Amino acid sequence: MPGTMRFYIRHDDIITSMIRGKVLEGGLKPPLKWAGGKRWLSDWVMKTWTDYKDKRYVEPFCGGMAIALSLMPEKALLNDINLHLINFYSHIQKGLNIGLEMKNDRTLYYDYRKRFNELAGTSAQETKEAAELFYYLNRTCFNGLSRFNNSGKFNVPFGKYRTINYKHDFTDYKEAFKKWVFSALDFEKLAVTSEDFVYADPPYDVQFTHYSRGDFSWPDQERLAKWLSGLDCPVIVSNQYTERIFDLYQSYGFEMIMKDAPRYISSDGNRSMAREIVGTLRIKNEAHGRVGP
Ligand SMILES: C[S@@+](CC[C@H](N)C(=O)[O-])C[C@H]1O[C@@H](n2cnc3c(N)ncnc32)[C@H](O)[C@@H]1O
Repeated sequence: MPGTMRFYIRHDDIITSMIRGKVLEGGLKPPLKWAGGKRWLSDWVMKTWTDYKDKRYVEPFCGGMAIALSLMPEKALLNDINLHLINFYSHIQKGLNIGLEMKNDRTLYYDYRKRFNELAGTSAQETKEAAELFYYLNRTCFNGLSRFNNSGKFNVPFGKYRTINYKHDFTDYKEAFKKWVFSALDFEKLAVTSEDFVYADPPYDVQFTHYSRGDFSWPDQERLAKWLSGLDCPVIVSNQYTERIFDLYQSYGFEMIMKDAPRYISSDGNRSMAREIVGTLRIKNEAHGRVGP
């Protein structure tokens, strides 16, 4: 019944923000490569966040932290089910300086991957050595993917980079991370309150992604939409556009905005811009005025 629908769609092109390709103003560059990174959406989220800056910023799927490192909230809860990722951030928080030899070399890569997998799944997976190896693998592997097999072992092959600029000293992140809390939980276990502001960027509906052991299935997408709608605070959610994702969030009363993402998809031999959906719930009207498409 169109008359009763609470959503609207607007189509836009925010490519300008991605073409600029600059290091985020006032923020820090994400230290890792991460599939589905949302740096291109940060200006848009910032406009909404401005009205909520006093709240705690919560990202249940923080991944490469492109948005958090752009917003630079005072207080934050940053969560991702990938515990190797969270271990890396936790070591940065303590002041990480990588001593490991890092080279874009196939033999070294497979030696380090083997060592990392020896640590994975044991109590040593939370050590500084594991954090250093995780960084090295992320920068050196194919496309910066973070993919694990069913036994939780990292299985991405050696990358195809001509040169890699490895970073050793991460102390420039330490100050920003000081008051941030990191956790490696399933999103539903997070204790979110009315004092929070949530930005959720789950794995895409259509892509088969193995960011960590297991996968994010359709029942997980449904579980997420239900969980987000039951929170008592402002929420922004983003996802790749699919009809069922759109319908799902619409059914929970989210306002939906369609965006062109800065990447292409191919279908029937044609390349077209991938479309993303941004849904908002409990966002003040004034903020909405500013964040239009
Ligand atoms: C699209 S990525 C997030 C990208 C991030 N916004 C960025 O800019 O880099 C989705 C993330 O969700 C995480 N994830 C998958 N299942 C999860 C779950 N059940 N609970 C929490 N995090 C999960 C993955 O490990 C992955 O890092």
